[in-house]
Amino acid sequence: MNRTFVICKPDAVERGLVGRIVSRFEDKGLTIVAAELRQLDDATLDKHYEEHVDKGFYPDLKAFMSRSPAMVMVLEGPDDTYAIVRSMMGATNPAESPAGTIRGDFGTIMTENLVHGSDSNESAAREIGIFFPNL
Ligand code: RTP
Ligand code: MG
Repeated sequence: MNRTFVICKPDAVERGLVGRIVSRFEDKGLTIVAAELRQLDDATLDKHYEEHVDKGFYPDLKAFMSRSPAMVMVLEGPDDTYAIVRSMMGATNPAESPAGTIRGDFGTIMTENLVHGSDSNESAAREIGIFFPNL
């Protein structure tokens, strides 16, 4: 089995969409192996988004990701589960994301795009280690 890391971002929690988002992953056949509603702090976000910390959009991204609790979770499925989750999420910008994807169905703007999913098996292992070090 293969695992990936997913966040239902603060906008998803605030809007009461976590159940519907998680249902999509369960309907697809993925299994939840860990999940927690968690307030994300600056140090954790800096580690998680290490490739973005020097970018111009990072202060806004960090403020968004820490403004209220997020649902962090680990999902399990077949090889390259990260790719299954990424295709279900849609494009980074919800406005450009097709209907049928999470971002395409529930979002309109880049800064409030509902979900995070690891972008490779290596990222999945790194991110699971940050958020669920005991797994
Ligand atoms: P994520 O990491 O959150 O799953 O999103 P992603 O892979 O689709 O996109 P990524 O390039 O990793 O960017 C991380 C988050 O930063 C925000 N962003 N803003 N203003 C901009 O140009 C810009 N670029 C990225 C997005 O909210 C994105 O989810
Ligand atoms: Mg990313």
